[in-house]
Amino acid sequence: MTIPPAAVSTGKTSRVLIAGPTGFIGQFITGASLASGRPTYVLFRSSSGCPSKSKAIKYFQDRGAIILFGRINDKEFMEKTLKEHQIDVVISAVGGEAILDQLPLVEAINAAGTVKRFLPSEFGHDLDRADPVEPGLTMYTEKRLVRSLIDKYHVPYTYICCNSIASWPYYNNKHPSEVIPPLDQFEIYGDGTVKAYFVAGTDIGKFTMKTVDDIRTLNKSVHFQPSCNFYNMNELATLWERKIGRTLPRVTITEDDLLAAAAENCIPQSVVASFTHDIFIKGCQSNFSLDGPDDVEVCKLYPDESFRTLDECFEDFLVKAKMEDLSVKEDESNKTNPVVESLAITATCA
Ligand SMILES: NC(=O)c1ccc[n+]([C@@H]2O[C@H](COP(=O)([O-])OP(=O)(O)OC[C@H]3O[C@@H](n4cnc5c(N)ncnc54)[C@H](OP(=O)(O)O)[C@@H]3O)[C@@H](O)[C@H]2O)c1
Repeated sequence: MTIPPAAVSTGKTSRVLIAGPTGFIGQFITGASLASGRPTYVLFRSSSGCPSKSKAIKYFQDRGAIILFGRINDKEFMEKTLKEHQIDVVISAVGGEAILDQLPLVEAINAAGTVKRFLPSEFGHDLDRADPVEPGLTMYTEKRLVRSLIDKYHVPYTYICCNSIASWPYYNNKHPSEVIPPLDQFEIYGDGTVKAYFVAGTDIGKFTMKTVDDIRTLNKSVHFQPSCNFYNMNELATLWERKIGRTLPRVTITEDDLLAAAAENCIPQSVVASFTHDIFIKGCQSNFSLDGPDDVEVCKLYPDESFRTLDECFEDFLVKAKMEDLSVKEDESNKTNPVVESLAITATCA
């Protein structure tokens, strides 16, 4: 069923503040916010020390972002900032180690009283349904604490459940889309038949920004379930084999292997192993139906918008693999900041 577009809000252009703009997910959100034309305030923790951060700041500034310096766990600063700039939408994309830093941010949002929508740092699975083992469970417990505070203060929210990033889902890499799919052998989780949804980073940014002032997504969990990108491990391996023009050996990573990798409690790899177990053994992305009153699905909200297909994303990996194979090496002085480089892609695609 398609949800009527008449429900989409058409108010003034929202002012957006993004925490974590240099992060893996934050860069896509920031790129999409800037591309959408909304006044975009980006919060950096500091300006000094890191040349790649200075480059990222300049990159955003050149595209019209308003740069702010500060931390989300500084409640007074955040409250003052939200009021001073009349921020309508706050998007937090802070990483796993900073989830609880959002508690003072929620306090600040409540005290400021100006924010019409808060998107906390979720960008993964539905916290009400997913059930990872430790140490992933600790991260979910922390994210649930943030949700509890949002509930307590009745802060208007949208939870983004965007599922997996479009890439080979390496079980020990928290940013797998930065790595080319295997060229020697595939490690297949379990029997390789459990399906998951894969979403390009640019689409996570694009669709997240569509939700921020859409009244249909107010106080809802927005699930990203593009049917074109619903693959199991075996299908993913076959897709990559078709791209590279050869078959590769497939070895099995058993449920016990994943649980053992999680039990090592090596952060962040073990967190990824516990999520991998939840996705590809227990089927946490697909073992439920979306019939709750608080759930909406992004393809039904925006039926005219297309997703980048996994096939297209794998084509990008093929180009990258060929470049590496041809030993295309850049001069040190020419090296681009990967954040800035991927932002350039974001700005084009969003
Ligand atoms: N669906 C997926 O496949 C997927 C993949 C990865 C992550 N995620 C989720 O996406 C979210 C973001 O994770 P990520 O891996 O993108 O994060 P990340 O790359 O670790 O980036 C974190 C960002 O947050 C900033 N930050 C941290 N603490 C802060 C504070 N107190 N105040 C202001 N800024 C702060 C960091 O700033 P500095 O630059 O100063 O360090 C950085 O820009 C998490 O909820 C994670 O679980 C989902």
